[in-house]
Amino acid sequence: MTFIVKLHRHFQRTVILLATFCMVSIVISAYYLYNGYKQENEASELSSEVECGDLPMLLSPWKMIKPSEPLRTDPVVLVFVESQYSLLGQDIVMILESSRFQYHIEIASGKGDLPVLINKNKGKYLLIIYENISKYVNMDSWNRGLLDKYCGEFSVGMIGFQKSNDNTLQTFKLKGVPFQIHGNVGIKDCCINPHSPLLHLTKPSKLDKGPLPGSDWTVFHINHSAYQPVVFAKVRVPENLPLAAIKNVLHATVIHDLGLHDGIQRVLFGNNLNFWLHKLIFIDALSFLTGKRLSLSLDRYILVDIDDIFVGKEETRMKASDVQGTMWQDLPGIATCQNASNMIALPRKSISAGQGPNKEYPAQEMALSKL
Ligand SMILES: *[C@@H]1O[C@H](CO)[C@@H](O)[C@H](O)[C@H]1NC(C)=O
Ligand SMILES: *[C@@H]1O[C@H](CO)[C@@H](O)[C@H](O)[C@H]1NC(C)=O
Ligand SMILES: *[C@@H]1O[C@H](CO)[C@@H](O)[C@H](O)[C@H]1NC(C)=O
Repeated sequence: MTFIVKLHRHFQRTVILLATFCMVSIVISAYYLYNGYKQENEASELSSEVECGDLPMLLSPWKMIKPSEPLRTDPVVLVFVESQYSLLGQDIVMILESSRFQYHIEIASGKGDLPVLINKNKGKYLLIIYENISKYVNMDSWNRGLLDKYCGEFSVGMIGFQKSNDNTLQTFKLKGVPFQIHGNVGIKDCCINPHSPLLHLTKPSKLDKGPLPGSDWTVFHINHSAYQPVVFAKVRVPENLPLAAIKNVLHATVIHDLGLHDGIQRVLFGNNLNFWLHKLIFIDALSFLTGKRLSLSLDRYILVDIDDIFVGKEETRMKASDVQGTMWQDLPGIATCQNASNMIALPRKSISAGQGPNKEYPAQEMALSKL
């Protein structure tokens, strides 16, 4: 009998223990569920930033295009670099060179010393490029006045780059620029403003969503109608940036100053030209700011280097009969450069951003096409 009572008590204790355990686990899982829900809420708040598909038309483009005055300036670009060896400076020069545009390089000094700009009432430069836009905004007021007067008088535009030089997250403003800039942030979901008047080579087609490599991007806040974004991006939430600073704000990695306040159009790039899309926009900016005087045609050519086929191993080597029998003989518009370079050129449609086989390296594609 006592044995049965003992067993019964033991059983009761076990049930109570089990019940308590259940309660505790319910409470714990409820706690985590609630927290998870809260985090999800925050995430969806972040993604309420403006989507690319329904971008507002910020300003009608035809309002600010000024007539270009081709006869008043020489077709030479003035490039201010940080040093002879700076990487971005070399990238800028490489694009100008491969496009066969004339340029003149100056090392940007702290005071902002300028070369002679005018020769016999004719402007010597049709576009100014600053590798470091800080060198322009911080130059002394005398030189700044001279340069701005030159740009205004000869309808000369400007391209500048804003690159952060250390690895810490920065939020700052440039002198005379009415919006905030974040340096050293990660970005994602970038897209092209289809209303930008700059676009020529670049097509505002849909780009893949998702993060872009690197966390050293510079983005501009857009909250001013005189500055039109060209490439939008969302900021990846950095831990040490207050959420409020980036929430519901449009950010751009390339911005177009329409010149409404001082008559000078400028295109500002965050970071550099490593991003392939920035290279395309840079080429379009050259064209737009110079009234198409420095413009590339939309025809693209592919070069196929075939000389290795003729010196290959015995059985893979090509013979004259193979060449004569190949399909490229029948293609229209073909040019075969025989003696000099063993290259074959095929006409090809213009590159559309985010499409085509060589999406990662359109610049290489372009470089090829220019050889
Ligand atoms: C740009 O120029 C400013 C001086 O005006 C300098 O402090 C800064 O380090 C330069 N930025 C880069 C990336 O070289
Ligand atoms: C734009 O942002 C700047 C800097 O954050 C601020 O001072 C200015 O008032 C803003 N302008 C508008 C129109 O919101
Ligand atoms: C290539 O070279 C051959 C002889 O070496 C010459 O007859 C021919 O005209 C050349 N072709 C071109 C396109 O220059």
